[in-house]
Amino acid sequence: MKYILKIIFCLSIIFLLQNCKRQTRGSISSPDTNICVTVLNENGKLTYEVTYKGEFVINPSKLGINFKNIEGLNKNLEIIEIKQKIIDEKWDQPWGEFKTVNNNYEEVVISLKEKEGEERLMNITFRVFNDGLGFRYEVPKQPNLDKIIISDELTEFIFSKENEVWWTPVHKENSYYESFYTKSKIAETDTINTPATFETKNGVYLAIHEANLTDYASMTLRKTSNKSYEAELVPWSNGDKVYATAPFKSPWRTIAITDKIGDLATSTLMLNLNEPCAIEDTSWIEPSKYIGIWWGMHLEKYTWGQGDKHGATTANAKKYIDFASKHGFNGVLIEGWNIGWDGDWTADGTNFNFLESYPDFDIEEVSRYGASKNVRLIGHHETAGAVTHYESQMEDAFKLYHKNAVNAVKTGYVNKYLDGKEWHDGQFGVRHYRKVIETAVKYKIMIDNHEPVKGTGLQRTFPNLMTQEGARGQEYDAWSSDGGNPPAHTTIIPFTRMLAGPFDFTPGTFNFDYESTNKARVQTTLAKQLALYVVIFSPQQMASDLPENYEGVQAFEFIKQVPVIWSDTKVLDAKIGEFVVTARKDWNSNDWYIGAITNEEQRSLSVDLSFLDKDIQYTAVIYTDGKGASYKENPYPIEILTKNVSNKDKLKLLLAPGGGTAIKFTPK
Ligand code: NOJ
Repeated sequence: MKYILKIIFCLSIIFLLQNCKRQTRGSISSPDTNICVTVLNENGKLTYEVTYKGEFVINPSKLGINFKNIEGLNKNLEIIEIKQKIIDEKWDQPWGEFKTVNNNYEEVVISLKEKEGEERLMNITFRVFNDGLGFRYEVPKQPNLDKIIISDELTEFIFSKENEVWWTPVHKENSYYESFYTKSKIAETDTINTPATFETKNGVYLAIHEANLTDYASMTLRKTSNKSYEAELVPWSNGDKVYATAPFKSPWRTIAITDKIGDLATSTLMLNLNEPCAIEDTSWIEPSKYIGIWWGMHLEKYTWGQGDKHGATTANAKKYIDFASKHGFNGVLIEGWNIGWDGDWTADGTNFNFLESYPDFDIEEVSRYGASKNVRLIGHHETAGAVTHYESQMEDAFKLYHKNAVNAVKTGYVNKYLDGKEWHDGQFGVRHYRKVIETAVKYKIMIDNHEPVKGTGLQRTFPNLMTQEGARGQEYDAWSSDGGNPPAHTTIIPFTRMLAGPFDFTPGTFNFDYESTNKARVQTTLAKQLALYVVIFSPQQMASDLPENYEGVQAFEFIKQVPVIWSDTKVLDAKIGEFVVTARKDWNSNDWYIGAITNEEQRSLSVDLSFLDKDIQYTAVIYTDGKGASYKENPYPIEILTKNVSNKDKLKLLLAPGGGTAIKFTPK
């Protein structure tokens, strides 16, 4: 990867230290000076506060950590050293929503020492970017601290106002973030997951999350007042939070800040706060579109387990491969080919055998057939949360896939707990998911992780971590007892879940008239299904419907053509929960795309095309809701129009209730 590096060392210009009697305070700002962070040491206790464009957004909030059995690092601290620098560099991604990422921040590392006693040491680092800030704790190697159990983190987020927040509850309906986002006053929330996105009355958006979650417990936010939260680390089953040995670093606690809603969705804070790519040769990492023996199982046309309706048979796999090959898809996901699915597979994940197939599925034959048609099998490891059992076969299971030219594996952890007792997002889960990613690297395998721990930007370091679930995907529209995802869901996701990275939402429904157990429905129009390919970023994107529902439908052309990775991305217009208009430029050509979606309200939007490249005439192919389209009564009507446009034009879009528009702009 290429780095253009420019480092300017600032002396005490940024971090102006003022010493009053028992107070030391210093400030650091973002390069554009809009965000200012002040750290205060009062009587040995540390707090930080944040202003945005001169207004307080975070009031003085505690910093520090507590340990089990010994004193924490949170009092009697004195500042012994301050190091500052400014970084202004660009780095290139192997795939993403941008080819090049600007990494421009001001940093201060504050070294602290206990004034008395064991004189233990801790550093706190702040990095302040134009799109937000991150801070983290570092416990250096030292004589009086070695193995530690973290029992608590004191980090607070005290807002200056009683803001509203888009949030999901922690470990309520499930333990892998598959809840609706709701918007309410902080007072009406509970303990919440991150990313959590706050809206202030002054039109400022703040999103709290964490970056580079490595060998640590996830941070959730425990409400402490009508305008504040405290970091609450997800515990191990015995109540301990984190096992660590000095030296160690906590993940970055992050606050994205902007007054332009679109800039929240395109923030690069997460990526910039992760380590550079750890994989030397990334040429085997191939973003792609796939189909799969999948939706049929969720609709109960097929079963994962054996029997008359077994989906993963050699014969069925070949049919899917034929369809993929005919329409230019690189992969076919095959779930339910390996032993362990019969009966209630969630009851005991130790029944899964990741190396042995059911008698009606021949993995070698399917791979050979796929290779002859330029299509790879996409592997699947459903563990039902039985992590230790999975780990005992994992290396061999990846070897088996590698031998059969499989270069992407979808993993799954459907169960409340891992190994019957640990949370997906505790340190146990965090360690396991990392082990999977690292083992997959050895076998040149990309990962699509379902029921994951939340994304924290790790795809920068391990770009074989392609995509994750970690939110309600389209599968809920096949069986959910609440009827499926309401139209607003996908207008919230870009400003909440998507801040955690790519999402395997699995769009692409073309047939809305399917039988479903709970009368669940895909609550969009057909045109909105197309627009979702642009709005929801995933470098592995599924065309999820049954092949027969695509055959002969003209709108399928859009799914075939739409890229999965982008050299540039702009969110042109949006209101969380109401509508989103996203423009993206193809990674490999000069084509631009727009995806515009609405909630249950119909909407007319004027889209300024000034983002298009200058002095170029484009042909725009527009897939838009047709007459009478509505997610409720008639999702099918779609109009496909062609127009000549340039960056001087504006386009008027009419979105039906639950509808959308997808556009491809090709230079003439
Ligand atoms: C839940 C996943 O999200 C879904 O995609 C998969 O089909 C099932 N688990 C079975 O593994």
